[in-house]
Amino acid sequence: MTKVTYHLPDGTMSKIEVAPGQSIMIGSVNNNLPGIVAECGGSCACATCHVHIAGEYNELFAEPSDEETELIAYLDGADEESRLSCQLIVGDFDSEVHVRVADSR
Ligand code: FES
Repeated sequence: MTKVTYHLPDGTMSKIEVAPGQSIMIGSVNNNLPGIVAECGGSCACATCHVHIAGEYNELFAEPSDEETELIAYLDGADEESRLSCQLIVGDFDSEVHVRVADSR
């Protein structure tokens, strides 16, 4: 199980165990955390699951697809650490990951 700490827009944080094969978006939605809306349900079409994740975690996740990169390019507040959390699929590893949930309001 991977422990994902979500740093939420309101300044609080929440640590959730996310099972292999699940996305960081699902971990948030299943636990009713605020911030990740996930309007499209994870099909890389809405960008309402925007998070910032430090480069040190890059090797744990697949590279962003062209679609994801394009969607991020149109987001307010996007930076080099931006990812769409529905595309961050947790592997079968035991580690801790921190993400900062973008403020989508
Ligand atoms: S949930 Fe829509 S792009 Fe991630």
